Amino acid sequence: MLKEIMEQGQALTDSALDRLLPPETQHPVSIHKAMRHSVFAGGKRLRPTLCIEAGRMITGSIPAGIEELGAALEMLHTYSLIHDDLPALDNDDLRRGRPTCHKVFGEAIAILAGDALQTQAYEVLSRLDCPSEARVRIIEEVACGTSTVNGMIGGQVVDLEAEHTKPDLKMLEYIHRAKTAALITASVVSGGLYAGADEAAVAKLRSFGQSIGLAFQIVDDVLDVTQTSEQLGKTAGKDTAAQKATYPALFGVDESLRKADTLVQTALSSLDTFGSRGEKLRMLARFLVERKQ
Ligand code: IPE
Ligand code: IPE
Ligand code: MG
Ligand code: MG
Ligand code: MG
Repeated sequence: MLKEIMEQGQALTDSALDRLLPPETQHPVSIHKAMRHSVFAGGKRLRPTLCIEAGRMITGSIPAGIEELGAALEMLHTYSLIHDDLPALDNDDLRRGRPTCHKVFGEAIAILAGDALQTQAYEVLSRLDCPSEARVRIIEEVACGTSTVNGMIGGQVVDLEAEHTKPDLKMLEYIHRAKTAALITASVVSGGLYAGADEAAVAKLRSFGQSIGLAFQIVDDVLDVTQTSEQLGKTAGKDTAAQKATYPALFGVDESLRKADTLVQTALSSLDTFGSRGEKLRMLARFLVERKQ
């Protein structure tokens, strides 16, 4: 069941991405090759799948065209990964089982490929096939989720500035909520908005997203310690080497996993009012803490 949900989310997202991204043959070819190199390296497509399933929970079936919203979210996520891996940030050579964008195309093109995926995402969002009021709210959610104020970029800034320091829980929670949970929250909330969710449903989706988003980054930190690079498709052990502010560094692996579990329980209870319709999103929430990559 979970496998089917993930496979359906991945298939819908991948075909939308292929349609919406310029072909590799498009002039200037280097940037389009770089964008596709990172986008089609085989990510889990978790944010689009959460978005699609949030939409399905609201309307009872997958809303037509929602995969384009999912594709835009994946473009933004991939842009964040390309920039996260740059020498000036985490300096990583391996991503999604492939050499990182800057390793293959050079730093300049990698920076521009990240920029280009962001621009392309907003072009796609501007054309979403939903009522214009919902479209504007979706654009606002997504822009805020990746912004400098409690959003992805803000989190990345504090993540970098916290290296080699002894962070407290408050700072660590800010980093994780901002760099990761904000875009995950925007993914479920925007999926709900696309499907016409009312304010009460949007509030439930928001608290669900905030809890699973934080749990997701805690588990990412744990996997960095417990898995190999082959299993992850990215360099393991990097956080310890770079003295990153992580949950396992502050609490150890077992306590970190307990915290992630508690957050998932909170997330599951945010969906109580949706009854059996919420089951697919609940499965995805459980998968976030059980995953091994
Ligand atoms: C990795 O995200 C970066 C984080 C925010 C922790 P994912 O684990 O979703 O990476 P992909 O998309 O599957 O490669
Ligand atoms: C990255 O966090 C979060 C982003 C916004 C990209 P990490 O630096 O822990 O992600 P990985 O482990 O490199 O995927
Ligand atoms: Mg990082
Ligand atoms: Mg990193
Ligand atoms: Mg990590």
